[in-house]
Amino acid sequence: MLPESAVREAEIHAAEHELYPPSPEVVRSAWVQDWESIARRAEADPEGFWAERALELEWFSPWNQVLDDSEKPFYRWFVGAKVNIVHNCLDRHMKTWRKNKLALIWESEKGEVRTFSYFALNREVSKFANVLKSMGIRKGDRVTIYMGRVPELPIAMLACAKIGAIHSVVYGGFSVEALHGRIEDSQSKLAITCDGAFLNGKIVELKQIMDEALKRSPTVENVIVVKRTGREVNMEAGRDLWYHDLMGLPIANGKCETEVMDAEDPLYILYTSGTTGKPKAVLHVHGGYMVGIYTTLKYVFDIKDEDRWWCAADPGWVTGHSYIVYAPLLCGATSLMYEGAPTYPYPNRWWQMVEKYGITILYAAPTAIRGLMRFGEAWPNRYDLSSLRLLGSVGEPINPEAWRWYYRVIGKERCPIMDTWWQTETGMFMITPLPCVALKPGSGTRPFFGIQADVVDEEGKPVKNGDEGYLVIKTPWPAMLRTIYGDPDRYVEQYWSKYPGLYLTGDSAKKDDDGYFWIIGRVDDVIKVSGYRLGTAEIESALVSYPAVAEAAAIGLPHDVRGHTIYAYVLLKTGQAPSDDLAETLRLHVGHEMGPIAKPEKIIFVDKLPKTRSGKIMRRVLKARAMGLPEGDLTTLED
Ligand code: WT7
Repeated sequence: MLPESAVREAEIHAAEHELYPPSPEVVRSAWVQDWESIARRAEADPEGFWAERALELEWFSPWNQVLDDSEKPFYRWFVGAKVNIVHNCLDRHMKTWRKNKLALIWESEKGEVRTFSYFALNREVSKFANVLKSMGIRKGDRVTIYMGRVPELPIAMLACAKIGAIHSVVYGGFSVEALHGRIEDSQSKLAITCDGAFLNGKIVELKQIMDEALKRSPTVENVIVVKRTGREVNMEAGRDLWYHDLMGLPIANGKCETEVMDAEDPLYILYTSGTTGKPKAVLHVHGGYMVGIYTTLKYVFDIKDEDRWWCAADPGWVTGHSYIVYAPLLCGATSLMYEGAPTYPYPNRWWQMVEKYGITILYAAPTAIRGLMRFGEAWPNRYDLSSLRLLGSVGEPINPEAWRWYYRVIGKERCPIMDTWWQTETGMFMITPLPCVALKPGSGTRPFFGIQADVVDEEGKPVKNGDEGYLVIKTPWPAMLRTIYGDPDRYVEQYWSKYPGLYLTGDSAKKDDDGYFWIIGRVDDVIKVSGYRLGTAEIESALVSYPAVAEAAAIGLPHDVRGHTIYAYVLLKTGQAPSDDLAETLRLHVGHEMGPIAKPEKIIFVDKLPKTRSGKIMRRVLKARAMGLPEGDLTTLED
């Protein structure tokens, strides 16, 4: 199906019969020791299973219905209940000993440390929530957050949620046009940013990018700026305010009532790239999302009070939303958040922190593992990694070679690897092992309790075991996206129209004879670069916004470390001559508009792009050609 299927197929073939049984030491004390019995129970009565999990958390008032499917595919969970996710993340812990437990340990790239107990975090969040209220932010208002990885980022998210405002976090690696588009679509009233961010020893000029984006976005009335780098930035009188000044005002009181929300009220929107056009605002809600992420983190990573959890993702993507910010706090865990890159200044950075903080669970992306693997075992071997109990992987398929390295060199063959498959849209882990499940390198094993997934053909019929097909989800789950904010038709069209009643993931996969799922890759126009999700359409529109460019096509080609890398095919306007300088200018232009991660590795000038007779670019043909693979069925090619 996909040009790279053959490569992945060979990996799967080699690893399909390589079984790693669960570790008795890990299972002995785990929340879940017997997968089958709970899976059977959850399959027979998913609503009962989720309702029981929901009762482990606090609700202002109970639901009268667990699942309402009367307006499919607009499913509603815990209907009629009143709740606020922040009440369960913070307020709830103020009544117990956890109030003095560490919630967050933050380390900067330079090695500075800041820590927050649950009490201290609750106080900061309450203070900032009061600041937001004093600036006129109310329930339902949208707030764009564009920051580096600093503690004020989760504080800002939680403060919004506490007062019922909808946060829209834009990843700090995005740039002007990507930021502008997201502010404009969400109609945000307020933006929160930093003067800059440190990454890889360099400074990312966040405020400058925000200023440029705001020239194109009129809805934002105020900008709150967190001081991080201390470098001089432009502060527009009447619009821009320093976070630290506001937090020093009497209005920034440490007590703030948590807003009573309906279980189905929006919590946040998060933009993600889809099949065509602009990125879509995936909407998550307070109630079901809370239950889904709490349950999955607790069971899959077996979170206990004594754990030190480290999700090494960026809070700006869904992994960070669910599993850096919300779920660890719901579980009452202690988390580490690290500001910088894994290899700066040296590739010992991660292992040093595992040793220093006694990290027990590390959850990371395959691209980071492969990046660190390149530097050899000597780096991790210099550190005591014996505190580790479980490892995790997320964001793209992990190749068995990287899996084995992670298992042997980092986990010392003691720590099971939870390879969690999920998406921005699913909100929570969907296909994932548990510590009590036997592993195969590169497989996410089976769907989580209460989730039904399958692999189907073009007509929606299940394919034979071992055959590649479309990965679909067959039943609703509590943390599922509720809609595309402002565009419900697109929600239906994108996810529920190819096969009515089945949720389309956009991934291709296969299932083996043990019922284990193997993800192959995206079958739509989404490219995963270093685990980051980008749309070909966004990259192409950035290219076409450059005056000399007439048309462009972007594709992702397999890459050893990054998973995929971007190649762009560019057709120039008449009278424009291709040159190496122009290619470099175009790369920089994409970087300036979209962000460094979207910069094509290579720009290839062409006279013509392969298109269907209806004018759609056939990226599959470009990809096969670039990889030297057979080009497949060309009957729809125009010429
Ligand atoms: C896409 C979703 C899930 C949080 C981060 C990414 C790919 C994700 C895995 C995995 C194979 C994976 C899929 C999916 N993906 N996790 N464990 N194995 N592929 O969220 O940015 O919405 O991307 O990431 O292709 O559809 P996202």
